[in-house]
Amino acid sequence: MANELQRTKPIGLSEAEEGYVEVIYSLIKEHGYARVADVAAALNVKPPSVTNMLQRLDKHKFVTYKRYRGVVLTRKGIQLAETLEKRHRALKNFLVMIGVNAERAEQDACEIEHKMTRETVEKLAKFVEFVNLAPQAPPFLEHFKHYEKTGERPKQCYRKNQKKESK
Ligand code: FE2
Repeated sequence: MANELQRTKPIGLSEAEEGYVEVIYSLIKEHGYARVADVAAALNVKPPSVTNMLQRLDKHKFVTYKRYRGVVLTRKGIQLAETLEKRHRALKNFLVMIGVNAERAEQDACEIEHKMTRETVEKLAKFVEFVNLAPQAPPFLEHFKHYEKTGERPKQCYRKNQKKESK
């Protein structure tokens, strides 16, 4: 069903377009402005490609772009950027939680975030929140680390009367 497969993209923005919105958002957050040259440098693309993309995003009302004046996000653009940022953080935190190193988690989160459905992302974000805000660190994470390292479950993993799995 179309609904089940519905992506988070509001008007079918491509991954690349979403990537631009993210970069513009973080440039503005960091420097207070975003110029074509900065966007080009951040994405490692040529300025004319940036100009093209900005015109497209302007047409869809995600940014306001005036030649030689740089680019700002519209409200709609900011909303999208905030959604992407939240999703990115949830994914990154999840990956770090299961032991992926922070740098790799950062890169992979950026790749995956454009592809997941809203439902999955929300579930993941809830899970991360649940684990991170637990009054006590959930033991299963420690157990998992042990399991990953040794291939064996710590004995606390087994319930009463349950036999250890034979290898
Ligand atoms: Fe990202």
